[in-house]
Amino acid sequence: MSAKKSVLSGIQPSGGLTLGNYIGALRNWAAMQDEFDAYYCVVNMHAITVKQDPAALRRRTLETLALLIACGIEPARSTLFIQSRVHEHAELAWILNCNTYLGELNRMTQFKDKATRHADNINAGLYTYPVLMAADILLYQAHLVPVGADQKQHLEITRDIAIRFNNAFGEAFVVPEPYIPKVGGKIMSLQDPTKKMSKSDDNENAYIALLDKPDVILKKCKRAVTDSENIIAYDEEKRPGVSNLLSIYSNCANVSVEEAVNAFAGKGYGYLKKAAADAVIGALEPLQKRFCDVLADEAYLTKTINDGVEKATAVAAATLKRVNACIGFYC
Ligand code: TRP
Repeated sequence: MSAKKSVLSGIQPSGGLTLGNYIGALRNWAAMQDEFDAYYCVVNMHAITVKQDPAALRRRTLETLALLIACGIEPARSTLFIQSRVHEHAELAWILNCNTYLGELNRMTQFKDKATRHADNINAGLYTYPVLMAADILLYQAHLVPVGADQKQHLEITRDIAIRFNNAFGEAFVVPEPYIPKVGGKIMSLQDPTKKMSKSDDNENAYIALLDKPDVILKKCKRAVTDSENIIAYDEEKRPGVSNLLSIYSNCANVSVEEAVNAFAGKGYGYLKKAAADAVIGALEPLQKRFCDVLADEAYLTKTINDGVEKATAVAAATLKRVNACIGFYC
């Protein structure tokens, strides 16, 4: 066993990842690779809880994996894999389903949201989605799970399930903790800076996709909502739009917000928007190039996927073996 603590996170292959995902999450995943034993998973089994076009799901799974590599996750330094290829996830999920109460699942706010949004497809998988997520985490004995606010409740139920299982059957699982990254920030919508930047926004101008071309990035930044005062100062309450642009600039240009504010003293919003756009374009250019290179290299991608699945399976299989023995499955 490695002396390092392990960290696991998962990402849905839903396409159109944004600058917000990069600054708020993916960049941190890359930064955690040395300090931790890192597991990163493209969760295509979670994706099918809502309707998917098979060809699009397959393509997006590969693209998401390529994008993670482009964001700096190195398959040699972490375990990067596709969830459905490690069958232990489905097997452990079943066992955990039998150790989870309906009352617990009924409290999940994401299920309620999704059931409202997909009223024509309220399937059992959507309901037990948090149990599959618990299986993802517990299979790798993850100590830490970097998650956003929307997934906190799912991590809580994972902890409850792990503690209950350990008490009933013996210590099978590490009980995971949420991980709040030291750096990075929350990037807000360019059109309504009181809301998080999201790829599911109806207004395309509200977000910068990681694969947006430079001219599109410039256009979106220029159209970003600010205010009428034309004073560049950081104040999330009074100037959410300007503060968001400052935060984007500081994250992409690798300077502190203070330094950014000083550098922009006496300048107008037009100047700030152009500077933010240039910084974003500069930060995304190498990422986009790497993405295209990885996706074009089919042999590399296939090998990377197979190696990742093999590494993940070794760990997952050991946990499942222990679980099977604990619950009395004939081995
Ligand atoms: N539910 C997470 C999301 O939608 C994705 C996910 C699946 C995940 N399994 C996970 C995140 C395990 C962290 C750990 O964002």
